[in-house]
Amino acid sequence: MALPNITLEAALDEAEKSYITSNPVSNTKWRSACKALPGGNTRSVLFFDPFPVVMARAEGARLWDLDGHRYTDFLGDFTAGLYGHSNPVIQDAVRNALNDGVSLGASNIYEEQLAHAVCERFPSLDLVRFTNSGTEANLMAVLAARAITGRDKVLAFERGYHGGVFVFKKGNSPINLPIDWVMAKYNQVEDTLAVIDENSTELAAILVEPMMGAGGCIPADGAFIESLRERANRYGIILIFDEVMTSRLAPGGLQEVFGVNPDMTTLGKYIGGGMTIGAFGGRRSIMEEFDLRKDGALFHSGTYNNNVLSMAAGTAGLTKVYTPRAANELNSRGDHLRKHLNALAADSPVPMQVTGQGSMMNVHFSTTSVMRPEDVDDCDENALKLFHLDMLARGKYLPRRGFMSLSLPITDEDIEEFVADVEDFLETRASVLGI
Ligand SMILES: Cc1ncc(COP(=O)(O)O)c(C=O)c1O
Repeated sequence: MALPNITLEAALDEAEKSYITSNPVSNTKWRSACKALPGGNTRSVLFFDPFPVVMARAEGARLWDLDGHRYTDFLGDFTAGLYGHSNPVIQDAVRNALNDGVSLGASNIYEEQLAHAVCERFPSLDLVRFTNSGTEANLMAVLAARAITGRDKVLAFERGYHGGVFVFKKGNSPINLPIDWVMAKYNQVEDTLAVIDENSTELAAILVEPMMGAGGCIPADGAFIESLRERANRYGIILIFDEVMTSRLAPGGLQEVFGVNPDMTTLGKYIGGGMTIGAFGGRRSIMEEFDLRKDGALFHSGTYNNNVLSMAAGTAGLTKVYTPRAANELNSRGDHLRKHLNALAADSPVPMQVTGQGSMMNVHFSTTSVMRPEDVDDCDENALKLFHLDMLARGKYLPRRGFMSLSLPITDEDIEEFVADVEDFLETRASVLGI
C-alpha cells in the first residue's frame, strides 16, 4: 500500500489522493451538503479534510459508507455508541416505546426507571434530572452551582472539553458560555490549588473530567482529584465531575475508581442507549433545589428531557446490557488492547503511544511521556493525519484526532485485526515517521 523511502508530505499526498479516488460518492454528497450546511457539516468534530466520509448504514460494530466500503467502528461515536449499532435489547426497548406513542407531553413510565437505574449505578447521585445532551447537562450543573452558591466564577481546565459551549482547547472558544471562567492546568496540583486559593470566595464550581477525554484521553492523577475534593470542601465550592464520557470506565464511573464523590455529576452519551441524552445529578441537598414543591425552586424544563425513546433505550441498556460485569469486561479488553499497541510502538522507530484508560484511548505521535494535556502539544499532526487515512484505507473507522472507544459488539478477532493493521502501519510508515 505505502511507498517506502518518501517524505511524510509525499506519503500524505499519496494517501489523500487515494482517499479521494476511493470515495467519490462521499465527496459528491459532501459537496451537496455544503450548499445547505456551512462546511457541509453540523457536528464540527466529524469534519476532516479533504472531506468527511459519509456513512450509509451500520450494524453491530460495522459501518458501510456510501461508496460501499465496510469499516469496523473503533470510534464508537465518541463513547455514545457503546452498545454498537443494532443491539437487539435496545432495539426492542425503542420499538416498544415507539409503539406506545411519542411526544406524550406528560410524565411517562420510563423516566422514573432510568432515574432509578442511574442513581443506583452512580451512588453519589441521590437525585438526577435529564437533558438532551451532555452540553446541556453541564450548562445546568454549572448554572445551578452559581445560583445555589451565589458566586459567579467557575474553575475549568485548559485543553478540556465539556460540550459545544465549553471548549477550552487551545484558548477558549469565542462562543463559550459567557461566564467568568478561571482556568487551571490539568494534573498540576500546586498550580491548581494556588488558583483555587486565590479565588476561594468567588468560585461557585470546579468542573473537571476525571480523565480528559477529548483532551487526548489523559487519566487524572489520584492526588489531583483528591486535592480538588479537599479544596472544594474547604471553601464550599461545588465539585462537578463531568462523567459524560468516563462514567462507562467502571460500573460506578471513575468516581468509584478514585473513591471520590463529587457534589454533582454530569452524564450523557451511552446513558441514553444511543438516543439523545444528558443528565445532571448529585447530592440531595443540591438537587432538591429543583423540587418544584419548594418555594423559589430552580426551573429546569426541556421539551425532550423525558422523551420516551431515550428513557426506554437508556434503561434497557444500563439494566440489561451494560451490567457491572459487562463494564468490567469491556474495560479490561480496552486495557489489554492499549498495552498491546504500546508494546508494538515501543518496538518500532515510530514515535507513537496510546494513552487512556479502559475502553477509551487516543493515539499520539510523540515519545514524551504523556501525563498532562500539554505533553501532546508537540505531536506531529501530519503523522496523525496519515494514521487516520491509512486506517480508513484498511477499513478501520476512527476520527482524525486518533480517539477510540470500544463498543460491546467488537470481537476479539476485530481487535486482533486492528493490532495487525497498526503493526503494518508502523512497519510501512517507519521510513517517513521513524526517528
Ligand atoms: C466530557 C464531555 N462532556 C460533555 C460533552 C458534551 O456532550 P454532548 O455532545 O452530548 O453535548 C462531551 C462530548 O463529547 C464530552 O466529551
